[in-house]
Amino acid sequence: MATNRTFTMIKPDAVEAGYTGAIIKMIEEAGFRIVAIKKTQLTSERAGQFYAVHRERPFYNDLRTYMSSGAIVPMILEKENAVADFRKLIGATNPAQAEEGTIRKLYARSLEANAIHGSDSDENAEIEGNFFFSATEQY
Ligand code: GTP
Ligand code: MG
Repeated sequence: MATNRTFTMIKPDAVEAGYTGAIIKMIEEAGFRIVAIKKTQLTSERAGQFYAVHRERPFYNDLRTYMSSGAIVPMILEKENAVADFRKLIGATNPAQAEEGTIRKLYARSLEANAIHGSDSDENAEIEGNFFFSATEQY
């Protein structure tokens, strides 16, 4: 069932670089409503849980180290067709291949430090949103 919600987090490289406000502005101007938001930091263990699907990939340990290296800004977002539209707004995983005007094209540093996450399905959007936010933090 389409929930019209997606989950995102601004990653450590972009928070550290001071892009949080600019990225949130792009997200709101693209028509997404912020349902939940906070600033926090993952431990390496929790970063590993979040990206458990990549457990067997060669970059898994580097990804855990990077994702726990600084503050992140997780958010739940709402909009019609949220998951697909948000993936379009952030652009390709590798910023070198991201389209002009996308968040990753504008703000990502590298394939790994690529500024922002976006859920890849309605099911994962719900799981990932609940990983960070309780029901009373979602409005
Ligand atoms: P997310 O929205 O963060 O899930 O990115 P994605 O769905 O566009 O890509 P994917 O789920 O395949 O990879 C998760 C994250 O792992 C990426 O966003 C990168 O931060 C990192 N990553 C992916 N591929 C590589 C790689 O080949 N090398 C390294 N070092 N990191 C990678
Ligand atoms: Mg992914």
